[in-house]
Amino acid sequence: MSDKSKVETTGHQWDDDEGYPLKEYNNPLPKWWLYTFYATIVWAVVYWFFYPTWPMVDDYTRGLLGWSMHKQLDEEMAEAQVQQKPFNDRLEQMSLADITRDPQLQQYAISGGKAIFGDNCAPCHGSGGVGSLAGGFPVLVDDDWLISGTIEGIQETIQTGHTAMMPAHQTEFGGAFTASQVDDLAAYVLSLSGREGDKEAQARGGVLFKGDAGCVGCHGDNGKGSAKDTSGGSPMEKTIGAPNLTDGIWLYGGDAAAVRLSIAKGRSGRMPAWRVGSEGLNRKLSPLAVKQVAVYVHSLGGGQ
Ligand code: HEC
Ligand code: HEC
Repeated sequence: MSDKSKVETTGHQWDDDEGYPLKEYNNPLPKWWLYTFYATIVWAVVYWFFYPTWPMVDDYTRGLLGWSMHKQLDEEMAEAQVQQKPFNDRLEQMSLADITRDPQLQQYAISGGKAIFGDNCAPCHGSGGVGSLAGGFPVLVDDDWLISGTIEGIQETIQTGHTAMMPAHQTEFGGAFTASQVDDLAAYVLSLSGREGDKEAQARGGVLFKGDAGCVGCHGDNGKGSAKDTSGGSPMEKTIGAPNLTDGIWLYGGDAAAVRLSIAKGRSGRMPAWRVGSEGLNRKLSPLAVKQVAVYVHSLGGGQ
C-alpha cells in the first residue's frame, strides 16, 4: 500500500473513539472520464446550432440544417412508395389466381394484407383471424366457410360485406314454433355433430328441420351449410351464408343453451362492406388493399 499521508484529502476529518481518524479522500476523476465529459458539453453546444433544440413560446429553434422528423419521414415514405410501385402496379393488373401462382408477388401481397388486416379486421376476427371470444365472428384460419373460401369469394365478401339472416323461430320472439318445438330442433341440431341426447326429441326435431321449420332451405338438406350443401337436391345460393351445423364448429359457442338461443331468437351477424363508396364505416379500403387482404386471408390456411 502507498503512504496514506500523501493522499490528497478534502480536509474534512472525523475522529473516532478508537483513535483512527476517518478522512475524506479527494480522488481525482479518471482523465478519460473527464475529457469525455467535456467533449459531450462541446458536442451539445454544436448540436444546438445545427439541429432543432430549444422550445420557445410558440415554436422551437430550427437549427441551421433545417432537419425535421416529419421531413425525414416524408422522404422515407416517398422512397418506400417508389420501391413498392412496380409491385402494386402488377398486383392491380393481375387476377387473384395469377397472383397466387407468383410466389414473390403473393408474399408481397400477404405482408401488405397482414398489416391491413391488423388495422381493420382483427378487432372482430381476432389477430391473425383466429376468431374472437365474443360470439358471431367467424374464424378465418379453418376451412369452415359461411359464404365462400375461394380467393375470389373471399374478395367478394370483403368488398360487399354480408349480413346473416337467421330468423327467430320461437313464438315469443316472433317465430312460429313453441318452446318445446324449439327444444326438439336444438336436440336435432346437436345430434348433427354427434352429440348425445333424447332420441325422441331428436327425431321430432329432425322432422321439423326437414319439414315445416324450413331449416334445410338455408342450412341444406344435410345441414352442411349453404356453402357446401344442396337444398331439395339443387345447388344453393352461396350468399345465404348459413353455417355448417354438422362439423362441431360454432359461431356462437357450441353449448346447448347457445344453440337453442340461435334457433329461438335468430341471429344476424354483420360483416361490413369495405369497398370505397359503401356505407357504414368511415375507413374504406382501395381495390388494391381489398385484393391484398383477400390474398392474406386466403393464405391463412383455410383457403380453397
Ligand atoms: C365489425 C366486425 C367485423 C369487421 C371489422 C370485419 N368483419 Fe369480417 N365478418 C364479420 C362477421 C360478423 C362475419 C360473419 C357474417 C355473416 O355471418 O354473415 C364476417 C365474415 C367474414 C368473412 C366470410 C367468412 C366465411 O366463412 O365465409 C370474411 C372472409 C371476412 N369476414 C373477412 C374480413 C376482413 C378481411 C376484414 C377486414 C377488412 C373483416 N372481415 C372485418 C365481422 C367483421
Ligand atoms: C333464411 C335462412 C335460414 C333459415 C331458414 C335458418 N337459418 Fe339458421 N342460420 C342462418 C344463418 C345465415 C346463420 C348464421 C348467423 C350469423 O352469422 O349470425 C344461421 C345460424 C344458425 C345457428 C347458429 C350456428 C352457430 O354456428 O352458432 C343455428 C344453431 C341454426 N342457424 C339453426 C337453424 C335451425 C334449426 C333452423 C330451422 C329451425 C334454421 N337455422 C333456419 C340462416 C338460416
